[in-house]
Formats: sequence, structure tokens, C-alpha cells
Amino acid sequence: MKNTNKIIVYQIICLLLMVAIGVLLFNNQKEKTVMKKESFSLEETALSVIMNRKSVRNFIKEKPVSKEDIDIIIKAGMAAPSGRDARPWEIVVVDNRKSLDAMAEKLPYAKMLMQSPVAIVVCGDTTKSSYWYVDCSAVTENILLAVEALGLGAVWTAAYPYEDRMNVVVENLNLPNNILPLAVIPIGHPQGEHKAKDKYDADKVHYNQW
Ligand SMILES: Cc1cc2nc3c(=O)[nH]c(=O)nc-3n(C[C@H](O)[C@H](O)[C@H](O)COP(=O)(O)O)c2cc1C
Repeated sequence: MKNTNKIIVYQIICLLLMVAIGVLLFNNQKEKTVMKKESFSLEETALSVIMNRKSVRNFIKEKPVSKEDIDIIIKAGMAAPSGRDARPWEIVVVDNRKSLDAMAEKLPYAKMLMQSPVAIVVCGDTTKSSYWYVDCSAVTENILLAVEALGLGAVWTAAYPYEDRMNVVVENLNLPNNILPLAVIPIGHPQGEHKAKDKYDADKVHYNQW
């Protein structure tokens, strides 16, 4: 082979090598970009759960919520803050169809219990805190957020401060005198589409003074 031909072949090989390296680098970069889009930081995940939480009132009745999910939801509930760290909460899990239906029948604003496979009732121990309902509200919100994070649906239905509704829950769950129900939370797999409301209102934000 002539010297000039050798140089041309050498140049072609170099060119091919450069193209191959370029393709490899490009693919690697593409992979990194895709990975970046698929992985979210803890802050992004936490905020998206908060922003996407919504009341869900329709459930797939036959689809149960797993025991693992219920445990996670309760742990999230009990991670709530409480005054003096008194933790005045008590949690009742209701997965008995008869009890769910009995409460649904007598609670005018909790008819969705008829459809939900399970409900968590957040109660407070009045001997542990005089403002148990404040601490238990934090538990309830944590539960709703955990439900959203798990792709399930739930709604806060009020027992406290309505005496008639509280009595229904006390009687059905056989609660002792010092334990009062704050919220009955039907939980299940959502049926149909549910969208969070955008409630941000800049007019309600006040810096330093009204
Ligand atoms: C203290 C409290 C009591 C509530 N009681 C009921 C109830 O009894 N029944 C019900 O269907 N929804 C109840 N809700 C849910 C509200 O209706 C719901 O949060 C509100 O309409 C805003 O909608 P969102 O949860 O989808 O953002 C209650 C919510 C709170 C915070």
C-alpha cells in the first residue's frame, strides 16, 4: 500500500472511532437526562403529595386496602406533632362491613363509608390533653397525606364537634368515656377521576402587618 493510501485509511479509522465515541457519549447523556426526569427529590415528592391531596368520596368497594398500607398510614398519622408531645391520639381501624354500613347509615355526611373497604377513626384521649382535637387534627391531615402518597383516596368526615355524630361513632365502636372521636376517614382505591383544587390566594397572605 502506498504511503498516501495508508494515511487515508488511518484517517478513516480515526474518523470512525470519533463518531463511535460521540454516539456513546450522546447516549450516555440522554440516559442521564431521562433518569433526572424520572427521579424526584424528597422535597419535590413531599410537595407534590401536599399539592395533590384531595377529598375522595368514591371508592372501588371490592378492592381492599392492604395491611401494609394501613400500617404505613397509621405510622404517618402518629408522626404528627402534639402540644407538650402528649400524643393524645387513639386510632380505631374499621374493616368490618357491618360496622362501616351501620355508621354510614347514621352519619349524614359520611355516606361514602358504604363504598370504602376500610375507615380509620381518629380519636382523642381527653385525660391526656384538653386540646386533643388540635393534635388529632394534625394526625388526620398526616393520614390524608399518606393516603395520597400511596395512590389511595380518603376524605375527612367530621365527628367532633357534633354531639349527634360523635354519639354514633362512640356507640358503634364501643369507645370508653374518655375517648372521643374527631374524624372518620373512609379509605379506599379511588373510583373515577379526582383533582386537587388550587386554593392558593395571595390576598390572604400578610407580611408583618395586616
Ligand atoms: C374539619 C373538617 C370536616 C370535614 N367534614 C366532612 C364531612 O363530614 N363530609 C365530607 O364529605 N367532607 C368533609 N370534609 C372535607 C371537606 O369538605 C373538603 O376538605 C373541602 O371541600 C376541600 O376539598 P379538598 O379536601 O378536596 O381539598 C371535612 C374537612 C374538614 C377539614
